Amino acid sequence: MRTLFGTTLPATAEHVGRAITFLMRYQLTRMRAPLVIPESWPTPKNRRARRETEMLDALVYRIISERQSQAGRDHHDDLLALLVDAMDEDGTQMTPRQLRDEAMTLFMAGHETTAQMLSWTWYLLSENPAAEARLHEELRDVLRGRPPEVADLPRLPYLQAVMNESLRVYPPAYLLARTSIEPCQIGGYDFPARSTFVLSQWVMHRDARFYDDPEAFRPERWLNGLAERLPAGAYFPFGDGPRRCIGQGFALLEAAVVIGMLAQRFRLRLVPGHPVEPEPLVTLRPRYGLRMTLQARS
Ligand code: HEM
Repeated sequence: MRTLFGTTLPATAEHVGRAITFLMRYQLTRMRAPLVIPESWPTPKNRRARRETEMLDALVYRIISERQSQAGRDHHDDLLALLVDAMDEDGTQMTPRQLRDEAMTLFMAGHETTAQMLSWTWYLLSENPAAEARLHEELRDVLRGRPPEVADLPRLPYLQAVMNESLRVYPPAYLLARTSIEPCQIGGYDFPARSTFVLSQWVMHRDARFYDDPEAFRPERWLNGLAERLPAGAYFPFGDGPRRCIGQGFALLEAAVVIGMLAQRFRLRLVPGHPVEPEPLVTLRPRYGLRMTLQARS
């Protein structure tokens, strides 16, 4: 939040979390339902969806208007400042609605995905003590107890491999879709214009043509140039092509700092018996959350 908008989410954080969970489930149920009730009908779910959306809108509009009212007074070095100042060649700036759309997209795309990546990574490490031990060893040798910095990242290849592998096994963005604008032929099949194509990271990342023992969490597989050998489309946690994730660098940096910091201090263990099941919503979430115990590392 600070990097994007120069602010934090104080008391509202929990409310925002609940709203997003509700809206994701709401949208997915609608997408899958054979018969969809129009959003305008005042059913309890539709009414709650509208309330939650209005709450999120109000939050984002408030962040924008607070910024605009400070114009010229305070200097801000964040993404919102770039959006507010952005100008087309003809001098026009974004309308409040455009600013809201950009800010809302960044807000949604920016926190949920990285948070899920971190959750799945702690779970995978807790289930794979050998990988966890190797990560601890690398962090100890390179960082010696201090917080990681950007310059350390190239010297933490195992940490990078853990992140690659976590994004392979539990890709937070587990599918994406495209609509063709003209007729096309792919793999010998003809498709008319306006066909919908669904591409799934979950499916491709677990394909034995590209990964030995694809269901297993094995960060080592990334240490000998696998990323360079894979054909296009076999690994795409951040999408590909012109609409590839704009936040990839930021997400990987953020995750490396968080993992590098916390793994030096704690070991996380799943509470025995806690069920773990992926829930494919807009992102891939652990359906029952991940109940874990923090053990201080001596
Ligand atoms: C582990 C974390 C992340 C994952 C797995 C992820 C995944 C993705 C994927 C797969 C796409 C492409 C969607 C498509 O092609 O339909 C995408 C797009 C996007 N992501 Fe991320 N993302 C992550 C983090 C972030 C962060 C931290 C930000 C912002 C701070 C962000 C902002 C965006 C935006 C704005 C787009 C749309 C880009 C466009 O359409 O041009 N993402 N992301």
